[in-house]
Amino acid sequence: MTPRLKLCLILCLLCLAACGGGAEAAPPPPTLSPQAQLGKQVFTRDCGACHSTSPDTIIVGPSLAGVANRAATRVADQDAYTYLLTSVMQPDAYLVEGYENLMPNNLSKQLTGEELDAVIAYLQTLQ
Ligand code: HEC
Repeated sequence: MTPRLKLCLILCLLCLAACGGGAEAAPPPPTLSPQAQLGKQVFTRDCGACHSTSPDTIIVGPSLAGVANRAATRVADQDAYTYLLTSVMQPDAYLVEGYENLMPNNLSKQLTGEELDAVIAYLQTLQ
């Protein structure tokens, strides 16, 4: 092998290593804002016993997969944010068809203002 070919091979290998061996870079995972991240923790703690975020998975309450999209269509004149906030503050203000009024109505008192805002922000990411 000529020194020139050797150099070429080494450069080639270095280049491959730098590009991760030619493998396609994985797309970055979707990231939640710090607020939504906190909301996810609140959700796991206070809501996850009754609500799944996987589609069509009913625990006690409906799955909240896609709730960000549905929220604006639930109650006339309520935008998504208002509907989601009302769902937590006054769960019996609107009942999802087919479900009983089983959601606790003291959740908003248990949560700090920060936690409440955070959990709503998290629900808004469930598209
Ligand atoms: C003890 C069970 C229980 C817990 C805990 C609970 N929920 Fe619910 N939730 C329900 C049930 C049952 C319904 C359906 C009846 C209704 O509309 O109130 C519901 C409905 C909802 C809806 C309306 C969904 C839709 O498709 O319109 C939202 C939003 C919601 N819950 C959010 C939450 C959040 C956020 C928490 C935690 C802070 C929580 N829930 C905790 C039982 C629960």
